[in-house]
Formats: sequence, C-alpha cells, structure tokens
Amino acid sequence: MTRVELIEEFLKRFGDSDQAVRVFYAPGRVNLIGEHTDYNGGHVFPCALTLGIEGVFRLRGDRTVRLASLNEADGIRTFSLDDPLVLREEDGWVSYVKGVLWAFQMRGCVIPEGFEMLIEGDLPAGAGLSSSAALEVLTGMAVTRLYELQNVNEIEIAVLSQRAESKFVGMNCGIMDQFASAMGRKGCAILLNTDRIRYEYVPLHLGDAKIVITNSKVKHSLVDSAYNTRRTECGKALKKLQLVSNINHLCDLDVDKFESTKDVIMNDTYTKRARHVIYENARTIRAVSALRVGNLKRFGELMNQSHISLRDDYEVSCPEIDFLVKSAWKIDGVIGSRLTGAGFGGSTVSIVRGDAVETFREQLTKGYQDRFNMTPDFYVVEAGDGVREIP
Ligand code: GLA
Repeated sequence: MTRVELIEEFLKRFGDSDQAVRVFYAPGRVNLIGEHTDYNGGHVFPCALTLGIEGVFRLRGDRTVRLASLNEADGIRTFSLDDPLVLREEDGWVSYVKGVLWAFQMRGCVIPEGFEMLIEGDLPAGAGLSSSAALEVLTGMAVTRLYELQNVNEIEIAVLSQRAESKFVGMNCGIMDQFASAMGRKGCAILLNTDRIRYEYVPLHLGDAKIVITNSKVKHSLVDSAYNTRRTECGKALKKLQLVSNINHLCDLDVDKFESTKDVIMNDTYTKRARHVIYENARTIRAVSALRVGNLKRFGELMNQSHISLRDDYEVSCPEIDFLVKSAWKIDGVIGSRLTGAGFGGSTVSIVRGDAVETFREQLTKGYQDRFNMTPDFYVVEAGDGVREIP
C-alpha cells in the first residue's frame, strides 16, 4: 500500500477530524555479529533495514486510544488512558504500544490525550528482524512528536522502548534492537558498546557482495522464556566470576582472563554460556576491524564462528537454522552465514557474492523443501536510516 493509500485507509477507519494526520516510519534490524552480548555489557553490530513499519497517527482531544494494524485481522482496538496501563493476554501487538506509553509515563512524561493509529509493515513477524522493536520505536517517536516532549531524543526513545519490552511485555531484552531501529544510518552498521551506549557508524563496504536474510519460518513458542533463561544463566556465571574479578558484566573480561578464572563457575552450562558471550564480544570487535580494512573474508569467517558458538555453547539454534547455515557454508560465493537475533528459529544472515545470490536461493530452497517440507523466504537487504517522521 502506498503512503497516500494508507492515509486514505486511516480516514476510512477513523473518520474525519480537525486534527492533522502525521506519518512516522521505524525500521527493523538485522544483526551482523555480536549475539547475546547486549545484556552482558558487550558489543553488537546491527544495521537498520529498509523494511519496517509505517504508521499514521492523529490526536483525539479525549482520553481514548484507538489502534488498528493492516497486518492483523483484529479490527480497531481501544483502550482508555484513564485506566491503568496493564498487560492483558488478549492485547497481542497492542501490548507494545501500551508498554511504550507506560515507559514514557514512568519517565515522568505526561500523555495528555489519546490518539488514533493505523500501521502497516513489510517486516515478517517472528522472523527475528525486530518487528516488535520497530513498533515500539515507532510509537515512541510518534508520542515524542505528537505531545512535543522536550529532551527526548532517538537514544532516549530506544531506551524507553527497551524498557517497555523488558519491564512491561516481559521479554527481558537488551538494547540492540531498539537502538538499531532508532539510530540506524543508510549504508552503515552500528558498532555499539552496550555498556556505555557508545556507538560508531561503520560503512558497509561490501564490494559486490550482498546481505541476504533467510527466514526459516520457524518460531518456537518458548523463545521469550528460553531467552530469559539464558539471561539468568549469564547472571549466575557472572556472580561466580565476580568472586575473583572486579567486574560488572561478563564482557568486562577478556578471553585470557576468562580462561584463567573460569573454573570458579563450577557449572558446565553456565561456563558454556559465559564462554559464548566473552568470545563473541571479542569476535565482534575483530570482525569490525577486519571490515574496516576491507578484509571481508575474515569478517565472514568470524560470522561462521559466531554461529558455531551460538549453536554449541549458547544453544539457541535449532535443526532448521543449522541446516540453512550449513547449506550456505557449502556454496561457493558465500562469505559468511550465521543465525541472527535471539535464535530458536527466526532468520539467518549471510554475506553472499552478487553472482552467487541466485544459486544461494535455489540451493537453500531445494534443500530446505526436501528436508523440512517448507520454503524459506529470502530478503536481499540494504542498511537503512532509523526512525523518522515522514513530512
Ligand atoms: C533479541 C533481543 C536483543 C538481543 C538479541 C540477541 O533480539 O531483543 O536485545 O539480545 O536477541 O543478540
């Protein structure tokens, strides 16, 4: 649907009013390397996509919020700002919007009146491309602009969106997804140090290679609980390591220090989790250095190592994802391939030479159909800009 059609659809659903409609856009993200490091004070290297969610918004002058999504068949959803903002099971996607309003209120922002909102997205949900973060950041930007909130910049929108997801929705995530959606820049990935929220834009000079996302279409229902379990396991490892090192996060340890002190953890599972996190952090820094000097081959090798570590030490892969990654590794012209995002299904990200993209698609499709009787989706993507108002 074009922007004009989306506005027309908005007017059809919500009717006319004196208030102006305003349009906002927030992208999804893909993480190139640095997985499950963002809640351990480590580095991540995501980029925003040119796939995302567009939303038409309009103030109402009363206390009602009315929402609709063209991606859902659930009609207009309504709640009142006079009722406490609480999570209800039946809320579904609306809980991300509620969560952002809640996070803004907790920060002391006044939400004086309700609004209407119609959204449409081209991000596949459940593909590990952060459609929920995009929705949160979209809502955060709209709220900031509609209510003319002072001192709320894009980073603050990312922080409040993350708080919405972790404290309101209950997925205890790190800052990566919301940060990428809020702060993305065309043609660049973001090297983000999640400990201090320090970041740098790194141009993605990939020569003739492309970033290809492969959606496995598998989404395990326990993603959120398994994710939260990993976080707890990292916390347990950290507690033990703190007995012998003065650290705040797992990623405060370098690989050597970890190897020489890891025996204190005394639990195989927690040791594996910590090992993934600490090596992945080091790999991310090395991968970005390789990219900066144009060594794409090295970048790809580190992506592959990242996958092995996610599979064996962090145990967040699944047979379908392992199959897609392994098949990719065998194809001439694939520079690197790995699981991206939280895991337990979702998508892989691969760097593929331009002339090999078609073979990549064909071979993965055929193999995946033969093995799992499912057809993966492919997205050849570019790094895009972060959240914005569309004039
Ligand atoms: C999800 C979370 C992120 C990050 C990744 C794993 O996408 O929302 O904060 O932890 O998983 O790297």
